[in-house]
Amino acid sequence: PLPQPYAVPLPRPPVKKSVATVGGVDHYQITQAEAEVEILPGLRTKILGYDGLFPGPTFDVRSGQACVVEQVNRLAVPTSVHLHGGHTPAASDGWPLDLVMPQGYSQQHGQGRHDNGDISQVRRSHSYPNSQRAATLWYHDHRMDFTAPQVYRGLFGLFLIRDAEEDALSMPHGEREMPLMITDRAFAADGSFRYPALDPTLQRTPGVEKDYMEGVLGDVILVNGAPWPVLEVDAARYRFRVLNASNARRYELQLDPGPAKLVQIGSDGGLLGKPIGHDTVILAPGERFDLIVDFTSYSVGTEVTLLNRLGQGSTGSVMRFKVARSAPDDSAIPRRLSSYEEPRARKGTVRRRWTFQRGKAGDHQGWLINGRPFDPNEMEARPKLDSYEIWTFVTDVHHPVHVHLAPFQVLRRGGKEPGPYDAGWKDTVDIRPAEVVEVLVRFTAHKGKYLIHCHNLEHEDMSMMAAFETV
Ligand code: C2O
Ligand code: CU
Repeated sequence: PLPQPYAVPLPRPPVKKSVATVGGVDHYQITQAEAEVEILPGLRTKILGYDGLFPGPTFDVRSGQACVVEQVNRLAVPTSVHLHGGHTPAASDGWPLDLVMPQGYSQQHGQGRHDNGDISQVRRSHSYPNSQRAATLWYHDHRMDFTAPQVYRGLFGLFLIRDAEEDALSMPHGEREMPLMITDRAFAADGSFRYPALDPTLQRTPGVEKDYMEGVLGDVILVNGAPWPVLEVDAARYRFRVLNASNARRYELQLDPGPAKLVQIGSDGGLLGKPIGHDTVILAPGERFDLIVDFTSYSVGTEVTLLNRLGQGSTGSVMRFKVARSAPDDSAIPRRLSSYEEPRARKGTVRRRWTFQRGKAGDHQGWLINGRPFDPNEMEARPKLDSYEIWTFVTDVHHPVHVHLAPFQVLRRGGKEPGPYDAGWKDTVDIRPAEVVEVLVRFTAHKGKYLIHCHNLEHEDMSMMAAFETV
């Protein structure tokens, strides 16, 4: 039986504290650990978590303030950590073979360089310069072939960058700024996660839907790790940093009842130029939407449900807000948010085409980019630093396309203007079946090898990934 919706209070993940500041650089340490946590009321679920939490702690850092995050692996499986949305030097970007090895493995394989040239170690430090504008980033596992089951079991968390431009706007903050990390999961009767790769006997049982070629879907919606939670709110404006951290599920969010709109102020890459009021917001895996909801348009006592218009039954709703009391509110939804370059195709830019299609990966069906399965030694492109390129993404079915390192803006969708959810700087774009999307990618800092892949995590593990090298 599924848990009662709107019974568990919405949790707020703890903010990660630095352990030291050395030469102006903040140092953090994360321990990747197994833990048993209560996700469904009264049951224990074994998770793999950053600091043993589901989801992991939230980083809250300032733009321009560099930090080093040391990851210590106390799990039984190798890991790799990627900061999604980060403009990160290649050595710290979480290349899928740059493994953080569990203790046992280190004895077997030693520490150091393997034949593939990648470095495996028991602890690994990641340098994040954070020299980028304020934005909602997230960090998650990126281990070669095993990203999906490891993120599913809990290896993900939020990473916020703030800056002076954003501080100058009097937006809702403190208690009235809330992350909403949305995931879907399936559970066995004893509370353990059901994921096909965790137990081969799960292949045909309900809970995890069985067509894994499309990715793994669960029937329980979690926000910040709690099933269909409830948040008591003041009749005031709130800022919600919404992340779709699901492996494969897309959502179309809508408030019920209206009239409040989901006012978008930011996208993957930070603030928009001006706010956009949406009746519904569609998010694909990996995407972030920074939204303001004005609860002053409801009378005290109203219960407002956040629906998922793309779901049915248990997956048709996400969480609930209870407008509990009236309260003063000096925040605003600024009419101008940020001055940023509007997308515009430039003359003389290099054009590249990327296809995302089903096909043969070795002897089985998989998902391919440009007709090929992922090969870490094959560079699909060599973009020059300090340049822009126009990349065209072509799909067969839905694929959320994510580019590491380089942010982009959508130029055209389906041969027309960008869609309602394409505004701002992005790093992940939802591409619908048989659609063509053209984006302008900006390459600035950091030479090295990076990835482009589908953020349907099962597709990623089924080879839908390619490498490029900035030169
Ligand atoms: Cu969020 Cu390469 O991933
Ligand atoms: Cu895909």
